Amino acid sequence: MPDSTEAKGHRGGALAMPQAFSPPLPTPRGALPLLGHLLPLLRAPLALLALLALLAQHPDVAHPLRTEVDTVLDGWTAAYDDLPRLHLTARVVNETLRLWPPVWAVPRVVTTDTRLGGHDLPAGTLVVYSPYLVHLRPELYGDPERLDPDRWMPGPTAPPREACVPFGGGARKCIGDTFGLTEATLALATITHHWHLEPLPGQRVRRPVPGGTLRPSPFRMRAIRRPWR
Ligand code: HEM
Repeated sequence: MPDSTEAKGHRGGALAMPQAFSPPLPTPRGALPLLGHLLPLLRAPLALLALLALLAQHPDVAHPLRTEVDTVLDGWTAAYDDLPRLHLTARVVNETLRLWPPVWAVPRVVTTDTRLGGHDLPAGTLVVYSPYLVHLRPELYGDPERLDPDRWMPGPTAPPREACVPFGGGARKCIGDTFGLTEATLALATITHHWHLEPLPGQRVRRPVPGGTLRPSPFRMRAIRRPWR
């Protein structure tokens, strides 16, 4: 992953954010800058959509998840204080962000002549790396396409931290990472506790669609309220 820690007078060291990705466009009433600020907030909901679609296809994960949230929430809505007991829920969120990271390509511009991964990169070169592809590398993850939240169990077999980059890395890493993880974990726990989501007949989870973000293919589900005590 292109990442430089040696900051040389500007944020990002030898690699900086390309201006082409944040253009100073003249827009009516500042609509585009506003959209630019709101877009990151849509990534957690996108991650949640991915989660719900994947879970509908993986009863082996959905079942123990339901047991955990039923025990922790006991009829309530998930709150911040519940986080330390939502172990599996947090691992399911991590694993979904590994399999389907909403941001699938991250751009950088080389600011000084650099050698990276055996390649000479002159200043000005655009480099794009893909969290989606990094997360599917078999030398980092055994059976990489399998949804397996237990790979995130703490211990020596857990993947190295830098092998999972759904929030990017380096000086421009997402500032909303903890917020996004918290939001997705609490929302997943609450939805799973109160609703049973089942795919409509004939629906199948397909590979996510790359666009501005990586989003789940259309997938229709029925939401059934779960009775609670
Ligand atoms: C699951 C949810 C989210 C994901 C997967 C995500 C992912 C990312 C990624 C990959 C980047 C680019 C990092 C890089 O260039 O190295 C980014 C940047 C950013 N994100 Fe997030 N994000 C999420 C939620 C949020 C939330 C909730 C906020 C705000 C509260 C936010 C605010 C930002 C901002 C301001 C940047 C630009 C940082 C900079 O350029 O210095 N993100 N995000």
